[in-house]
Amino acid sequence: MSINRKGIILAGGSATRLFPITFSISKQLMPVYDKPMIYYPLSTLMIAGIREFLIIVNESNLESFKNLLGDGSSLGISIKYAVQPKPEGLAQAFLIGEDFLNNSPSALILGDNLYHGNDLGPQLKKANKDINNSTIFVYPVSDPERYGVAEFKNNKVINLFEKPKKPKSRYAVTGLYFYDNTAVEKAKTIKPSQRGELEITSLNNLYLKENNLNVEIMGRGIAWLDTGTFDSLHQAGSYIRVLERRQGLKVGCPEEVAWRKGWIKDKELEKLAKTMIKSGYGKYLLEILNDPLKDNSKNF
Ligand code: TTP
Repeated sequence: MSINRKGIILAGGSATRLFPITFSISKQLMPVYDKPMIYYPLSTLMIAGIREFLIIVNESNLESFKNLLGDGSSLGISIKYAVQPKPEGLAQAFLIGEDFLNNSPSALILGDNLYHGNDLGPQLKKANKDINNSTIFVYPVSDPERYGVAEFKNNKVINLFEKPKKPKSRYAVTGLYFYDNTAVEKAKTIKPSQRGELEITSLNNLYLKENNLNVEIMGRGIAWLDTGTFDSLHQAGSYIRVLERRQGLKVGCPEEVAWRKGWIKDKELEKLAKTMIKSGYGKYLLEILNDPLKDNSKNF
């Protein structure tokens, strides 16, 4: 029996930078142009080839997420849910997800991170492929002090620092992490940081020390956006709108990914489309069904 990598989407948190909007709504259910934010990270992991998901949410939002995505069967995937009682850090995902992972390798993605770009698909598939591999991605940013930051020596990452005052490079670790099956065991050894969180940077440093972490550079041709502030949320929406209107193709559309992967059939896509005709989203799904080049692009 083959062992598959399982996906965790971290969609809890306090979203204080979006108050008052997020007093009563989860950030990851907010729209990024024409779809809920969580569609983007979900699609990203689906493109990598992952079909089994755990979505970690705050208790007060659990029902809303279930109403939106259900058990995933309409997308040919499986979705389970877990509650994070308090936002005590990204690495806590592995303590909460221990039973779900059941010793499988994993991919963790932050529910408010959005990836788009030309070489993204192959990079994601490569990271997913070898289940014994652990991979993180770094990306050049203008404000590295907000993130986990890489220190390089001889073109190799030798250390990672969480939110450093004086960053050793401008390469930030993005919110997408592929791990082998030792992530849970490692997460259990991490102590909370000064700000009281189980830091993902601590987990990554454990992998680095073992010499067991591929650090891939995400090139400038890829857009990595996070959507945690009023401005970044607005910018992400504008970015998606410009692209989609120009190309007539959607970014972060899980129905499309499922169909192109062959996880759902034409009839099933059509059925999903018909529930959303008036918004134009369903019309798009019907259009791709009739795309004359559709068979060329099936290898998503
Ligand atoms: P952050 O943006 O760092 O934190 P936040 O969403 O709570 O927002 P704010 O800074 O405005 O208070 O979190 C990144 C992502 O990880 C986001 O999707 C929320 C999620 N998250 C959790 O699910 N649990 C956690 O313990 C933390 C820290 C974050």
